Amino acid sequence: MKSWKIRMVLLMGTISIVGIVLVQIYWVRQAFDTRNRQLRQTISIALINVANKMAEFNGGALPNANPVIQLSGASYIVNVNDVIDAGVLEHYLKSELHYRGLNLDFEYAIYDCSSDSMVYGNYVSTSESDKPEKPSGTFPRLDKYTYYFGIHFPYFSGYLLNSMRIWILSSVILLAVIVFFSYAMFIIFRQKRLAEVQKDFLDNMTHEFKTPISTISVAADVLSRPDIVQNPQKLFTYASIIRSENLRLQEQVEKILQLATLDRTSIRLHPGKIDLHELIGNLIKNSEPNLTPRNGKIETHLHAEKFNVTADRVHLTNVLFNLLDNAVKYNRREPLIVLATGSDAKQLTLTVRDNGIGIPPEYRKKIFDKFFRVPTGNVHDAKGFGLGLSYVKSIADAHGWDLMVTSDVSTGTEFTIKMNIDTSD
Ligand SMILES: Nc1ncnc2c1ncn2[C@@H]1O[C@H](COP(=O)(O)OP(=O)(O)OP(=O)(O)O)[C@@H](O)[C@H]1O
Ligand SMILES: [Mg+2]
Repeated sequence: MKSWKIRMVLLMGTISIVGIVLVQIYWVRQAFDTRNRQLRQTISIALINVANKMAEFNGGALPNANPVIQLSGASYIVNVNDVIDAGVLEHYLKSELHYRGLNLDFEYAIYDCSSDSMVYGNYVSTSESDKPEKPSGTFPRLDKYTYYFGIHFPYFSGYLLNSMRIWILSSVILLAVIVFFSYAMFIIFRQKRLAEVQKDFLDNMTHEFKTPISTISVAADVLSRPDIVQNPQKLFTYASIIRSENLRLQEQVEKILQLATLDRTSIRLHPGKIDLHELIGNLIKNSEPNLTPRNGKIETHLHAEKFNVTADRVHLTNVLFNLLDNAVKYNRREPLIVLATGSDAKQLTLTVRDNGIGIPPEYRKKIFDKFFRVPTGNVHDAKGFGLGLSYVKSIADAHGWDLMVTSDVSTGTEFTIKMNIDTSD
């Protein structure tokens, strides 16, 4: 799929999901408000009925005004206007609430005018098992009335939410859809990147292999001419061209096979104590052939006081060689590479700095990915497979080293490796 199409799908998908989420939030709130209002209304009606029944029981009548006052939360005060018998009240409360399908626990208290306080009545549970240890409600006094009772529903919120189950379920399903959509998008983007990287890799490989193959083919053509035996010098030259190009091809194939299949978790190290300064010295000598054609120079600032590390010599050499190779390859000036070391009590810091083309910030994290190369359009001025730094990272991880990169497109790049110092004698 083309890049813009994927972006389009993502945009449309996001817009639809945001829309659906907003509609869902609106309806859930709407449903919640309605249900809340409905429940409270039913409770009020039940309590008015209880007050009327109590008045009837006492042979009196209630004043015209609404006898029910809703306090904060799920507490109510009900004016009865006559003495209250706790047993009768509890009976009426139970039957009225049950009649209206309100399966709610409640507790009540009756105002006692002789002590001017609320006297706790009882906690009435709809099921025997979840009776709380202690009553939770407090019942405030109300100076306005003389005969009244207070009622509190401790599980009102839970009851309300429970009656909204279908809404909660639909919201959970919606959430699952969003998670699934995001995951699908993530996979699509990852696949797309992988496909791009693989395509680049194949392009590079084709490019790298074409040159030696065509050189070998030309040389072989020359060698198959009958008159070549008369010219042993030419024969020797072309034979050695074939040999060296073949060697190059072999090296390339080996590198790809080894590095591309290298698994970060299964690298086998053969660690030993290494004098890093000595290793750097050897490395510089062996890098001559790489540097001379470009007029490159290596400067060293080896300031580390302790410079022994425990590492796999072959892998560490390859790591430094890869970094030096990049420092020369990605450079348009005469390469000037600075190799520096420093140490504190525990760690040795090694930096490789170059004056090359630098790495744009958006690619700095990706350069350690297998097959990744900073895009240069169709210009293949520096050859490679994007395997070097992925190898460097794998080896650093396997040793437990920190690997960092800082870069500036105008001054160059610096790779830093922090290793533990080997303090054994
Ligand atoms: N010192 C550097 N300066 C600028 N760019 C760099 C430097 N080192 C690496 N890069 C960028 O990071 C990419 C990945 O580097 P890496 O060494 O993994 O692969 P490569 O050099 O392209 O190929 P290989 O090392 O497998 O031959 C390079 O293609 C290059 O774009
Ligand atoms: Mg490289």
